[in-house]
Amino acid sequence: MNLGGKADGKPLRVSTIAIDGPAASGKSTVGAWLAKSLGYLYFDTGVMYRAITWAALKRGMHIADEEAVTRLAEEVRIVVSRPTEDDGRQYTVLADGEDITWDIRKAEVDWAVSPVSAYPGVRKALTAQQRRIGQKGCVVMVGRDIGTVVMPEAHLKIYLTASAEERARRRHVEQIARGQESDYDEVLRDMKRRDRIDSRRETAPLRVAADAIVVDSTSMSIDSVLAHIKGLILDRFKMLADAGGPLVECQQGL
Ligand code: DC
Repeated sequence: MNLGGKADGKPLRVSTIAIDGPAASGKSTVGAWLAKSLGYLYFDTGVMYRAITWAALKRGMHIADEEAVTRLAEEVRIVVSRPTEDDGRQYTVLADGEDITWDIRKAEVDWAVSPVSAYPGVRKALTAQQRRIGQKGCVVMVGRDIGTVVMPEAHLKIYLTASAEERARRRHVEQIARGQESDYDEVLRDMKRRDRIDSRRETAPLRVAADAIVVDSTSMSIDSVLAHIKGLILDRFKMLADAGGPLVECQQGL
């Protein structure tokens, strides 16, 4: 995507983009596409909560043991990098050097990740790391609290949503395509349960930032969502350019 634009010979960019929304609302498809189009870093923060959850389960911890899980979040070294295998992954996730890219998508992680991500100490540890990545600019960051807590200064905030039934349908189709067993009613029940925990927790709950643009994709195809979002970026770029900024250099080492 050409965001062109120069001021005094320096590049003019919509440099930080926050995408929030409930599970299976299409955030990762949209975020990865956007980052690729712009040449930015794509960063899916849900991966970090999943990595801590996986590490806790692997160590046989009780997910209800907030103190132990929080200590773990402060200790485990999570690295998210460009894909190291050509097996359909969008990125590679390491926890203390172990490749857990696919493990974090397992049903037991799906089940336990919302309670883990509700612990304030876990959020504190991970938010600090996410902010450091955001501050380097040229990033599309995806999660639940990016526009509200992690990057409240983001140049563009999108809140992507869809009805629980449509999100469950998409997840169900995805699981079947991957050859996994999947029961639609169960997927829907779990979706609603996670929505409830994510939006009712005390620390950084899922909610729409005051200055976010809401995109409801319930009856939109993925192509029309992407076209719509491309329009939002171009509008925002023009708005920022008219206002005389921002001038941003990428420091993400892309
Ligand atoms: O997007 P996901 O399904 O991979 O996220 C997994 C869990 O992590 C989800 O239940 C909510 C939580 N999460 C969060 O609380 N804050 C974020 N910024 C990202 C994810």
